[in-house]
Amino acid sequence: MKEKLNSIEHEALQLINTANDLDVLNQLRVRFLGKKGEITSVLKGMGQLSPEERPVVGAMANELKNRIETVLEDRKVTLEREAKLQRLQKEEIDLTLPGEPVIYGKAHPLTAVFAELKRIFLGMGFDVAEGPEIETDYYNFEALNIPRWHPARDMQDTFFITDEVLLRTHTSPIQVRTMQKGELPIRIIAFGRVYRVDMDATHIPNFRQIEALVIDKGITFANLKETINVMVKGIFGENRKTRLRPSYFPFTEPSAEVDVSCFVCDGVGCRLCKGSGWLEIGGAGMVHPRVLEMSGIDSEEYSGFAFGMGIERIAMLKTGINDIRLIYENDLRFLNQF
Ligand code: PHE
Repeated sequence: MKEKLNSIEHEALQLINTANDLDVLNQLRVRFLGKKGEITSVLKGMGQLSPEERPVVGAMANELKNRIETVLEDRKVTLEREAKLQRLQKEEIDLTLPGEPVIYGKAHPLTAVFAELKRIFLGMGFDVAEGPEIETDYYNFEALNIPRWHPARDMQDTFFITDEVLLRTHTSPIQVRTMQKGELPIRIIAFGRVYRVDMDATHIPNFRQIEALVIDKGITFANLKETINVMVKGIFGENRKTRLRPSYFPFTEPSAEVDVSCFVCDGVGCRLCKGSGWLEIGGAGMVHPRVLEMSGIDSEEYSGFAFGMGIERIAMLKTGINDIRLIYENDLRFLNQF
């Protein structure tokens, strides 16, 4: 039996000291020290020994148990230390490597243009007004002096939801909603999405407009012109000139198209301005007396002007983008150029 214990000792120490992972070490613990382990099974045969031999073998077995326990523990500590060292080596940080570049976000061209316009108009004392994108026929057309039979309805290819309800085709219904509040004078810019049945390189069915409305006593066409001047110089630069070209809108009288001198050729004529020297940016005019009256404003006492533009168009002109769809593809390689 002593021999048996000796051979267990020999084998156990050899296996433990060469074990190279913690799982194997655990299996060895079970194999030698477990309830059904090798030492226990030796002790089970103690009954056959003489009373003198029993305590000697018992003591020997206990000693062996302790010994194996200690060796197991030592080996465990060694293995754990090695594992940790390996992990640290793997995770080592090389402080001399170049860092990951930080990519700064920036405003989308549309956001940037709107922010600029807003800054210019707030600087002139305007407030920002908003309105619903789903509008009634009344606000989008009727109250802007565009009755059902009026051919000018064709200017704005409309998405109708029902006979009375539609997706607004311009931000001008916000003019009406603001006037109906009954507070005068009015000095607002309106901004938002508008919808038209239209799609090609320079038109998209869902685009954005910005629109100004000023109503007070004694407002004249000169006020309109100067306000547009300030805005144009603010977004396109000090050297830009403005031109108002006679036009027609049912809700303004007189009406005008707003042109800006071409900033590529400075008015000489080039590809961007198609040789004319001017770029069209929007529509404008003195608010039609009938529009004032329909919203309860006395047109003998008050007068006003309004003008509206497409934000996409301004962004395209400012950045030289020639296809409106690029603005919406959100390709970062494209957007990062601005
Ligand atoms: N609402 C017009 C349009 O979308 C633009 C406009 C606004 C014209 C204000 C005159 C005055 O076509």
